[in-house]
Amino acid sequence: MKRSGKHPARFLVIIPIMVILDIVILSVAAYHDSHIPHDPQNPLRSLPWLSLAAIGYLVPANAAGALTAVILSVIAAVTEKKENQKEKIMKTINIAIDGPGGAGKSSISKAIASELGFIHVDTGAMYRAIALFAVRNHCTAPEQIRERLDEIDVELKFIGGAQRVMLCGEDVTDYIRSPEVTMTASKVSAVPEVRAHLFDLQKKIAAENNIIMDGRDIGSVVLPHADLKIFLTASAEERASRRYLEMREKPDCPSYEDILEDIRKRDYADMHREVAPLVQAEDAVLVDSTNMGFNEVVEHITGLIRTKTDLR
Ligand code: DC
Repeated sequence: MKRSGKHPARFLVIIPIMVILDIVILSVAAYHDSHIPHDPQNPLRSLPWLSLAAIGYLVPANAAGALTAVILSVIAAVTEKKENQKEKIMKTINIAIDGPGGAGKSSISKAIASELGFIHVDTGAMYRAIALFAVRNHCTAPEQIRERLDEIDVELKFIGGAQRVMLCGEDVTDYIRSPEVTMTASKVSAVPEVRAHLFDLQKKIAAENNIIMDGRDIGSVVLPHADLKIFLTASAEERASRRYLEMREKPDCPSYEDILEDIRKRDYADMHREVAPLVQAEDAVLVDSTNMGFNEVVEHITGLIRTKTDLR
């Protein structure tokens, strides 16, 4: 955490300055003020007068200087305390992880968040929740979803660090991963009003928590001042083959070719939409995980975060 570099006690330097000034003034007064009798034969005769001058003149001056120093120090201490409290409240660590679908952003972010004690925010799930609303209510066209946005209340809950997505009060976390919702999410996320609808909520969560937030536009739009930005990618073929391995035991598993085609379509849609397209932010660190194992990627990114944020 940054410090102001100004210590409240700096005002106490006024005291030695006052003392030096007093000595100068007293010397000048003693030797040049005609009201102080001065006998060069017997300098001790001047002492009572010098003592009187010290009491009548120097003591109040010193007291005033010391009081000023103490008052300024107290004001500085109170101001600094307030600044520190404000900084403590406002300063959270924000890590942005962007990249194409299927690059492992969510599972990797989740592992890193749990290692660092951060909250993992999967913004894709928020778009998926809106897509689920659109599918359920047959309003997937941009103009239809725009009209219904006021009815769509998306909220995130974090239970034991795990994110749950609430849609109008219902926990829909388990219903947002179907192929239909996936394709609709890609469509509705291209609607500027949909993005604006989620933007404030994303900013608010980041302002209040230490977070790893993953998505497509986190480093470029949502958190342009993130402490660290990662662009996590892998070749489309590698992403398709990982997805295929994950799904192949399921009865309705699509073919590798179909998965690859879906990934390419989504990449194209995410990268070519007009608003907040998927791009690598200029200051993002590129991590290409095509030839890296899961743990290797987690360790690599965790190391980057620790170095960048001084976390131990
Ligand atoms: O990461 P995901 O597959 O769960 O994302 C679902 C869709 O939401 C995807 O098509 C891209 C979109 N999305 C987005 O446009 N911006 C984000 N920050 C996150 C996801």
